Amino acid sequence: MNILFVGDVFGSPGRHIVREHLPHVLETHAVDLLIINGENSAGGFGITPSIAEELFDLGAHVITTGNHIWDKKEIVEYMTVPANSHVRGRRVLRPANFAHGTPGFGLYEGELGNGTKYAVMNMQGRVFMASSDDPFRKADELLTMIERNTNAKVILLDFHAEATSEKAALGWYLDGRVTAVLGTHTHVPTADERLLHHGTAYQTDVGMSGPFDSIIGVETELVLKRFLTGMPGKFEAAKGNPKMCATLISCDGATGRAHHIQRIMLGE
Ligand code: FE2
Repeated sequence: MNILFVGDVFGSPGRHIVREHLPHVLETHAVDLLIINGENSAGGFGITPSIAEELFDLGAHVITTGNHIWDKKEIVEYMTVPANSHVRGRRVLRPANFAHGTPGFGLYEGELGNGTKYAVMNMQGRVFMASSDDPFRKADELLTMIERNTNAKVILLDFHAEATSEKAALGWYLDGRVTAVLGTHTHVPTADERLLHHGTAYQTDVGMSGPFDSIIGVETELVLKRFLTGMPGKFEAAKGNPKMCATLISCDGATGRAHHIQRIMLGE
């Protein structure tokens, strides 16, 4: 089966480029499972319920996020649903290793039309990021939970983290236990996509779906001013040179073992 993961959708340029290219990619590669990181899809900061609906309408089975998940307050109510709920808000994830009692969930277990069970986990790094629980032990905990709940073998982790070393470490830690460990957050795609020794597909960062004439999505001038003067100022999403970054993974639907991983970058 084929899984497509679309990297951090950034603002309206990101949403437009994804809307433009996604249908063709889904069809060409016969994608069975679509996951989109949408943490910056609303103006570059956070996600709203209507934008989440828009991404679900494009075919997303699950939307993952990260440190910007609460930037738009209205998403809190949308995600505050029971664990066994079938509403779409249940399929917007926040990192699973956020503090106990945080709204929403960091794990979603679902079933495709053909009966294949799958699970998506979202986790945040601890190096150069706000404090959160241990993502390694949390991953162990979630895998035990998956085994007990649905016994899904197709398992994908979006590791939203800054440090390459932490991402690589979690990739090797979970090798053979999940289908893929894909990094997000830096907005820069890395050329290290590979299959680890025991069948886990790995890439340090999928990259951004958004404006590449920018500093990781934000208007260049505004970020430069911040670096040059240290003065506060409002950041706004850039518009130029939008590209869609995504990663395609092929795996055995019965065992969850990955056998191919491919980087995709599409744009003008
Ligand atoms: Fe982020």
